[in-house]
Amino acid sequence: MEKILIIGAAGQIGSELTMALRSAYGNDDVYATDIKQAPADVIESGPFQILDVMNEKNLIHFIIRNKITQVYHLAAVLSGNAEKLPLQAWEINMRSMLNVLDLGREIGLKKIFWPSSIAVFGLTTPRINTPQLTVMEPNTVYGISKQAGERWCEYYYRKYGLDIRSIRYPGLISYKTEAGGGTTDYAVEIFYEAVKHKKYECFLKEDATLPMMFMPDAIDSTIKLMECAADKISIRSSYNLGGISFNPNEIAAEIKKHIPEFQISYEPDFRQKIAESWPQSIDDSVARKDWGCSYSYDLEKMTAVMLKEIRKKI
Ligand SMILES: NC(=O)c1ccc[n+]([C@@H]2O[C@H](COP(=O)([O-])OP(=O)(O)OC[C@H]3O[C@@H](n4cnc5c(N)ncnc54)[C@H](O)[C@@H]3O)[C@@H](O)[C@H]2O)c1
Repeated sequence: MEKILIIGAAGQIGSELTMALRSAYGNDDVYATDIKQAPADVIESGPFQILDVMNEKNLIHFIIRNKITQVYHLAAVLSGNAEKLPLQAWEINMRSMLNVLDLGREIGLKKIFWPSSIAVFGLTTPRINTPQLTVMEPNTVYGISKQAGERWCEYYYRKYGLDIRSIRYPGLISYKTEAGGGTTDYAVEIFYEAVKHKKYECFLKEDATLPMMFMPDAIDSTIKLMECAADKISIRSSYNLGGISFNPNEIAAEIKKHIPEFQISYEPDFRQKIAESWPQSIDDSVARKDWGCSYSYDLEKMTAVMLKEIRKKI
C-alpha cells in the first residue's frame, strides 16, 4: 500500500496534485505538507501539516512516523523570485532536493517525483521544437538549480538505484491557486484581470512565445509518469513536455472572443529577458513514446474553462 508525502502542497501545482492523488490513492494516505497554510480543500480532505523541507530531522521523522513510500517534492523558489535573491534561491532549491534524495536513499523510498522546468534551457539551445537532448546553458539561477537538480536525479538513480522521476514543466496555468512568482505567471494573471477589469498590463512583450500547459494536463502527466512501469522510463534526468505554445498577443486575441472590450498593454520588465532565453516550443516525442504522454487542452479550450471558472470564483 502506498503512503504519499507531498512537499509544497499549498502551492500552484501541489494543491491540485494533492486532490488528484487523494482521489486515486485515498484521502488518508496522501499527506500534504508546506511551510504555509494550504487551501481549504487540501486541509479538509485529508492530513495536512506544516513542515519545512529544509529541516532534515523533522522531515525524516515525518517520513518514518507515517511510513511514507513515495515523495512528491514540489517546494522551490521560482524563476522570477529567484532572480531577486539568487544565493538564497540556490540554497533552498538545492539543499531541499538533496535532503529528499538522500533520505530516499537511506530509507529506501519506492519513488520520488521532482519537477524540473523549461528554464534548464538557455540562449544557445534551439528554441523551436527543443529536443529532449540538446545544448543546455541556463542563465538564470532558477535554471541553473533545475539543471543541477536533473544531474542529481540521474546520479542517484545510477549510483543508488533510487527511482526518481521528473518532468520539465512548461509554464503552468490554473484558476485554483495563485501563480508562485514565475516568468509565465502572466498567462494566469491575464485571465483574472480580464474578468475583473477588462484590461491587463503584460510584463512580457507581445510576441514572447513560450510553451505552456493547462494544469489538468500537467497533473495527468505527472501521475501517468509516476504510475508507469520503471523499465519503460528511459530518461532519468527529466522529460520534455510540450503543451501549447502561444504569446501574449495570441492569448489576448482568444480572450477577446469572450470579452470583446478586453485590452492588453505591454510594459516588459526583467522577466522579458528570462523569457527570451527559454524555448518557444518543445519536442516531447520521448515522453509520448515512453509513457504515453498526451494532452486534452489547446488554447481555445483552456481559455473557455479559465474564464468560466474565474467568473464563478470572483
Ligand atoms: N508553476 C509553473 O509554471 C512551474 C513550471 C516549471 C516547474 N515548476 C516547478 O514545480 C514545483 C512547484 O511549483 P509551483 O508553481 O506549485 O510553485 P509554488 O511557489 O506555487 O509552490 C511551492 C510551494 O512550496 C512551498 N515551500 C517553499 N519553501 C518550502 C520549504 N522550505 N518547505 C516546505 N514547503 C516550502 C511554498 O510555500 C509553496 O506553497 C517547483 O519545483 C517549480 O520549480 C513550476
